Amino acid sequence: MRVAAVLTAAGSGSRLGSDLPKALVPLAGEPVVAHAARALVAAADLTHLVVTAPPAHVVDVAAALAGLAPGGCRVDVVPGGPSRQASVAAGLAAVVASGDLAPADVVLVHDAARPLVGADAVRRVVAAAARHGAAIPGLAVTDTVKVVDDAGRVTATPDRRTLRAVQTPQGFTLDVLRRAHEAGRDRAHDEATAATDDAGLVEALGLEVRVVDGDPRAVKITTAADLALAERLLHEDAAPITTAPGGHR
Ligand code: C5P
Repeated sequence: MRVAAVLTAAGSGSRLGSDLPKALVPLAGEPVVAHAARALVAAADLTHLVVTAPPAHVVDVAAALAGLAPGGCRVDVVPGGPSRQASVAAGLAAVVASGDLAPADVVLVHDAARPLVGADAVRRVVAAAARHGAAIPGLAVTDTVKVVDDAGRVTATPDRRTLRAVQTPQGFTLDVLRRAHEAGRDRAHDEATAATDDAGLVEALGLEVRVVDGDPRAVKITTAADLALAERLLHEDAAPITTAPGGHR
């Protein structure tokens, strides 16, 4: 079985308060997109990595990825579209055009905005996607979540035990992801109508999507506070483990 990945990095940095696109903002001295690409490459034996970039920053994103992928992995950077869904569709078109994947091979779709995802979660997604056609990592929800109308009135309180906060990478067989994007193509031109994740397009087709355990460390970087949290998590990893007298760390 072969595995390819679409890494979405075409968003702006506006909610981060940055002039740079979010994917190019430094995290521990390296662009966010480089961390995300390395996480995927370390976890899955990718044949093809397609990265979506803001159209004005294709060259910068390609430079940020230089030397990250092993020899057997082809890397392409393509301009993203007006919504995340459109960007994934552009990346998927490059995967299809390469002709490397059979319909039952797996395509991961990962947000550069989650640079800290661990290898175990990625591997769980690949295995479940190959088996079931579509798989996504999810975490139990600790907040109570309300459904609210436009006037701010609460209309429902879903049973928290039935809810999962969903992350990326999401994984699909090539056949399932192609069909889902083809069927949802008319929604992609505008963020207001576009799907916010790829599993949503698969659900709209009536196909099964399985949830596997997500990674609590795979925080999504949206605001400056998220970036600071990701820096702290990375520094915790890098800190040397020293044993003080008495055995305390
Ligand atoms: O904006 P948000 O953080 O929800 O975006 C999720 C991911 O989708 C990010 O990695 C972002 O770079 C990517 N994206 C994209 N094309 C867009 C909008 C977002 O590739 N038009």
